[in-house]
Amino acid sequence: MGKDVIVACDFSTAAETFSFLDHFSGRKPFLKIGMELFYAEGPDIVRKIKARGHRVFLDLKLHDIPNTVKKAMSVLSGLDVDIVNLHAAGTCAMMRAALEGLTRPDGSRPLLIAVTQLTSTDQIALEEDLWIDRPMPDVVMHYAENAAKSGLDGVVCSPLEAATVHRVCGPSFLTVTPGIRFADAVKDDQKRIMTPADAKLAGSDYIVVGRPITAAPDPAAAYARCLQEFL
Ligand code: C5P
Repeated sequence: MGKDVIVACDFSTAAETFSFLDHFSGRKPFLKIGMELFYAEGPDIVRKIKARGHRVFLDLKLHDIPNTVKKAMSVLSGLDVDIVNLHAAGTCAMMRAALEGLTRPDGSRPLLIAVTQLTSTDQIALEEDLWIDRPMPDVVMHYAENAAKSGLDGVVCSPLEAATVHRVCGPSFLTVTPGIRFADAVKDDQKRIMTPADAKLAGSDYIVVGRPITAAPDPAAAYARCLQEFL
């Protein structure tokens, strides 16, 4: 899989999702399905979207004991998703178990990427809630290295971190980057943002774009603009 734009389907029902997808007449964007839609509609939403020809990043951020994550990943692999993720905080043992669970009998598997630290966690929460007494950029990079040495394919990170992740973990280690906004658009609740064109320059492999496409008056045109700037 090469560089691409992943559209975040942050909807709560299948009906809303499919009426959104109807805007793309013929085009099949790579889609991200998150917890809200998955928990509302169940695994069937993934099967239906795959049956329509989309690639799917299933963003469920697993984090549990290794054996439980291994078994859950085996179920997700059976859904034929293209990318899944977990929390690197679950330890290297959990990440290795996840890879085992994902690997199908023929040796194929979805790509597996890690969340390092959530962007909603700041330095204060890191120290006071999690008792991690290190600077956030060091923690993020340490977790990314743990993911790489456990055999994962990449991390979710800010486009601002993509170049450092590639330097530390290697050029083929994937950086999947949300926080994307057009130069002339509102930021919504995102704080550290980049345009698709700047994310390309920063070396992002995949950009994850939600509201700039889902809330656009013409979602297909907004998607085309992302592709044109990013690819
Ligand atoms: O609408 P917007 O483009 O901000 O959506 C970005 C998507 O990426 C959302 O699904 C959001 O949950 C997700 N995400 C994020 N920041 C992270 C991790 C995931 O914005 N650090």
